[in-house]
Amino acid sequence: MKIRNNRCEKKASGEKANKHSSQRDISAPAPIEIGPTVGGDPFAYILARRLKRRTLLKGAGLVAASPVLAWASSLLALEQVPADSESGLQFKAVTGSGADRVIVPKGYQAQVLLSWGKALFPEVPDLDLQHLETLLTPHGAALQGKQFGYNCDFNSFFPLFQRHSSQRGLLATNHEFTSEALIFSDWPGYDDPKRADFVRKFPAMVAAMKAAHGVSIAEVIKRNSQWHFTQDSPFNRRITGETPMELTGPAAGHDLLQTAADPSGKTVLGTLNNCAGGKTPWGTLLTCEENFDQYFGNLEGLESLAAEESPNQAKLKKYATLHGRLSPPRELSPRGWELVDKRFDVAENPTEAFRFGWVVEIDPYRPEFTPKKRTALGRFKHEGANVVVGPEGRVAVYSGDDTKFEYIYKFVSTEAYDPKDRAHNLTLLDKGTLYVARFKENGSGEWLPLVFGHEPLDKDHGFASQAEVLINTRRAADLLGATPMDRPEDIEANPVNGKIYAALTNNTLRGLELETLNGRQIVGSVDGANPRGPNKMGHILEMTEDSDDPAALTFSWEVFILCGNPSDPAAKFLTSLTDSVVGPQDTYFGGYTSAARISPLASPDNLAFDQIGNLWIATDGKTHGLNLTEPINNGLYAAPTAGKERGRVRQFLSGPKGCEVCGPEFTPDNQALFVSIQHPGEGGTLRQPLSDWPGGHGRPPQPSVIVVTKTDGGKVGD
Ligand code: FEO
Ligand code: CA
Ligand code: CA
Ligand code: CA
Repeated sequence: MKIRNNRCEKKASGEKANKHSSQRDISAPAPIEIGPTVGGDPFAYILARRLKRRTLLKGAGLVAASPVLAWASSLLALEQVPADSESGLQFKAVTGSGADRVIVPKGYQAQVLLSWGKALFPEVPDLDLQHLETLLTPHGAALQGKQFGYNCDFNSFFPLFQRHSSQRGLLATNHEFTSEALIFSDWPGYDDPKRADFVRKFPAMVAAMKAAHGVSIAEVIKRNSQWHFTQDSPFNRRITGETPMELTGPAAGHDLLQTAADPSGKTVLGTLNNCAGGKTPWGTLLTCEENFDQYFGNLEGLESLAAEESPNQAKLKKYATLHGRLSPPRELSPRGWELVDKRFDVAENPTEAFRFGWVVEIDPYRPEFTPKKRTALGRFKHEGANVVVGPEGRVAVYSGDDTKFEYIYKFVSTEAYDPKDRAHNLTLLDKGTLYVARFKENGSGEWLPLVFGHEPLDKDHGFASQAEVLINTRRAADLLGATPMDRPEDIEANPVNGKIYAALTNNTLRGLELETLNGRQIVGSVDGANPRGPNKMGHILEMTEDSDDPAALTFSWEVFILCGNPSDPAAKFLTSLTDSVVGPQDTYFGGYTSAARISPLASPDNLAFDQIGNLWIATDGKTHGLNLTEPINNGLYAAPTAGKERGRVRQFLSGPKGCEVCGPEFTPDNQALFVSIQHPGEGGTLRQPLSDWPGGHGRPPQPSVIVVTKTDGGKVGD
């Protein structure tokens, strides 16, 4: 067994951060140790929590001894564990609100930490909100590439200088997309139907918007009970829609990933629509490319070319077919990037879109690190990528494909995590097996391997190699008989009980009679794992891998929460799902029996766990299905997963108008909770604003990361 001591990994030689500029001297700070030693070692943490939980259960005679116990025993002594298994959630729930502000429970404070346009480097000015027209110029675009990006989503905290540091770290934040209506709507010609003219007139806006996408890495520090951003940190970095990246793994270099600009098929510019993500035990960030298709346009042009007789016709037909299951817009894309950057014109560059839709691994401790698109994890609309280490050290990465009737996936590495060999760990996501989930009605499930050569993933069914299976993942999963789900978002392991929780955000088409959707035949009927039709408010599944091994090929599952308003007089509040016929408004909260003590919620998106194993749920969706007197904004909620309050959802935070709440991330000590407020003011325009958060006074809204702390310095949730 390779996993013994998680504390002793040292920074490999040559992993020092590079200087960004002469103004930022990085030789001054004390030498850092990279990776788990610095990065909080979630692996050891997860094991110890699991072990504690199991020990408690075993003591109660509830579970038999597991090989995991023996395997993990050396880790028990390393960690402090909670004194009891009760939830510890003491906060008084906030009431859902439509107010244009952040609301947290009494005894808590929310501080804006980083907002769109904040310069990440001392030599760069902040974005001037009074002059957003600068984003129509090449200079403004260049500056945006060094400022905090737009629409922050996933956050991950990487401790600096001390293992488990909760005082100082690197905060990596995804910037999922840009909301042009909240940036350019003051400008004549912006509105449809003349958007194309506007883009052609101001091509630099495309560069600015690409620069507002991607990832920010920013050093943050807690001082005098407040969190601060360190602008002159050598670690600060912007990764944008133009940053050079490497394609790695089985599909790297494949013909389908080659372009005229990159005949190697191994180098791609940028990452787009980075929604959720994950952290690895070796201290890297996984950032996920979700709705990348929307940046491409003119599929129709490719189809026309493919219909003409030419020496390239077979190839063009193949490209057009491959776009079928994850199709870019047939005509002009919503943003019109393809008008000024032919990389995004599918007719001119039919394979460029195949270079997006991947999970990207980034080392936040090395600003010079070239991000890696890990093709072994498949290509689809990745929402998140959460990592668990199995008993033999192999790592599993869970990922959802966020589209109606798409699938839940798991990648399992071939080789084992080695806490003493970070260079080795950085290769783990290039070799392994990708699986897709099939949920059976009896509460069991199977992980189906997406492996070329195993019928039906063979030449008879249109696949010529493993690379093609990975590039056309959805089609391969169709053939295997995976279960179409209600928009899988975050899928995350509970560090205490080891179970896997999957947020299914909603699916208004569930229960309808469908024929085709997204290039394949589909039956839209309800099933055990997607039991409501239409599913306007979403649900959360709880999955248990067999033998608690994340590399297992089978699992069991149950519905944990059917979201909604438990006090809706027009619906049933279920306390058991056995033999229940579930109506579209009916709710279920893990068996909790007091509807009045539960906060209504809809559209679960991002998930996180605190130290005690409570599930934190961020929402992104319309709440009219809740049948409340007044609509409420999206929020953040917490629920115990065990004990007598299992499933009792309580609202912890209400976001400003028009926002989604995302990216909840605790510091290791749980005393700070980072949260992204994405697209405040969505639904309005600059001329008709819905929100002016966080600046107030009529300023344009700014997507921002906030940090929530308890005023007495205690743990968030207590
Ligand atoms: Fe970008 Fe699936 O939310
Ligand atoms: Ca999301
Ligand atoms: Ca998460
Ligand atoms: Ca979402």
